[in-house]
Amino acid sequence: ASERERNLRSPICCIMGHVDTGKTKLLDFIRGTNVQECEAGGITQQIGATYFPIENIQQRTKELKADAKLNVPGLLVIDTPGHESFSNLRSRGSGLCDIAILVVDIMHGLERQTIESLDLLKMRNTEFVVALNKVDRLYGWKTFRNTPIVKAMKQQSKDVQNEFNIRLTQIITEFKNQGLNTELYYKNKDMGETFNIVPTSAISGEGIPDLLLLLVQWTQKTMFEKLTSSNEIQCTVLEVKVAEGHGTTIDVVLVNGILHEGDQIVVCGMQGAIVTTIRALLTPHPMKELRVKGTYLHHKEIKAAQGIKITAQGLEHAIAGTSLYVVGPNDELEDMKESVMEDMRSVMSRIDKSGEGVCVQASTLGSLEALLEYLKSDEVNVPVSRISIGPAHKKDVMKASVMLEKRKEYATILAFDVKVTPEARALADELGVRIFCSDTIYNLVKQFKAYIDNMKE
Ligand code: GTP
Ligand code: MG
Ligand code: NA
Repeated sequence: ASERERNLRSPICCIMGHVDTGKTKLLDFIRGTNVQECEAGGITQQIGATYFPIENIQQRTKELKADAKLNVPGLLVIDTPGHESFSNLRSRGSGLCDIAILVVDIMHGLERQTIESLDLLKMRNTEFVVALNKVDRLYGWKTFRNTPIVKAMKQQSKDVQNEFNIRLTQIITEFKNQGLNTELYYKNKDMGETFNIVPTSAISGEGIPDLLLLLVQWTQKTMFEKLTSSNEIQCTVLEVKVAEGHGTTIDVVLVNGILHEGDQIVVCGMQGAIVTTIRALLTPHPMKELRVKGTYLHHKEIKAAQGIKITAQGLEHAIAGTSLYVVGPNDELEDMKESVMEDMRSVMSRIDKSGEGVCVQASTLGSLEALLEYLKSDEVNVPVSRISIGPAHKKDVMKASVMLEKRKEYATILAFDVKVTPEARALADELGVRIFCSDTIYNLVKQFKAYIDNMKE
């Protein structure tokens, strides 16, 4: 390989689509994991990241093209939620990626969040491949594990092939109605103008070799410039988490550049910009999901693209969904502190100015944004007087109790996907502050609504 080919960074691929089309399951199949079954309600509520080394992709695609020359070091895949209340996370995911997989359920065709995802991709001019998933649900489908789709399709009965063709034609028409030409990738003579469709099954793996090969070949062929590593750091905080033995850590996606142990970094925090030094750079093992607890690999430096856990002092109040900066020799620290706080301001502006409303607590800025969005919607319409990120403590209960005098029903904490400390709970009982907890937005708001309705009676 040439010097430049050796310097390519891994492309970032974001997986998007309507809820339950099989996004996480597809990744599970490729990883050999079962993340999906461990999700609350089987619903993805956070952005995930998994690194696939090129050796693994080579191995899985060798039946298709043994001699394919793959130059990128690997593929970083970002999983996003399809549930309607997480449009902010879909938007964030699509903003990080070089290419996307748009997953469509062959039994359902284009659905609401398929179209929303399409609009995001069109807006940013992002290339994408359609995974037409759940082909194993075609009546009478015969399983050929891990098999390239053309080979698997040839061995199906006439009835299965007919049903497939009818559904495919229908879905191509639905894309056409959205102003897009699509075609089965192995029949597509107009790549670039006509988007590729790869039929897949996340249960038995037909079409998965095709999907992987297409992603790698397409990105390295058409995005050479973009993937040629530059030193400019581009990095986004996905999550703030306490990790056993590491204290508070941040999970980030390094989109571009190189991070080193000992780098001075600036991160957006609840109480202002955080300036700290990278103590350790950790990654999950290849083919493991960053969202899921496990053992980590230590690195002196890491090149993009990668999902990384960073340990450093003072990250307790860091906010997910914001940018991370590395302080260089010529940088003005004060300017960097200014810019890093920008992301926070938009969320703060959602709080009710009257000062009357419930308190909302969530695990990440992303989940907080999603919850605020939903509370603001016409169907729900609940005012919010205070927001916080992270576990609910006594001080949060104290703050919520202020509402007891004004609007008793708002002396409430809606705790979304966060812990409530026993002390906070005890104080809440003592003061008469209600705490509702759930790890799904719908349940949380349903509990609160039931409480309000009950009070009115
Ligand atoms: P969200 O992240 O919540 O938007 O959903 P998702 O798109 O990640 O879908 P998920 O992986 O959670 O799968 C949803 C359901 O569809 C699960 O019950 C899966 O087992 C099932 N499923 C996913 N892919 C396939 C497939 O290829 N074939 C069949 N038969 N079932 C599938
Ligand atoms: Mg999912
Ligand atoms: Na799901």
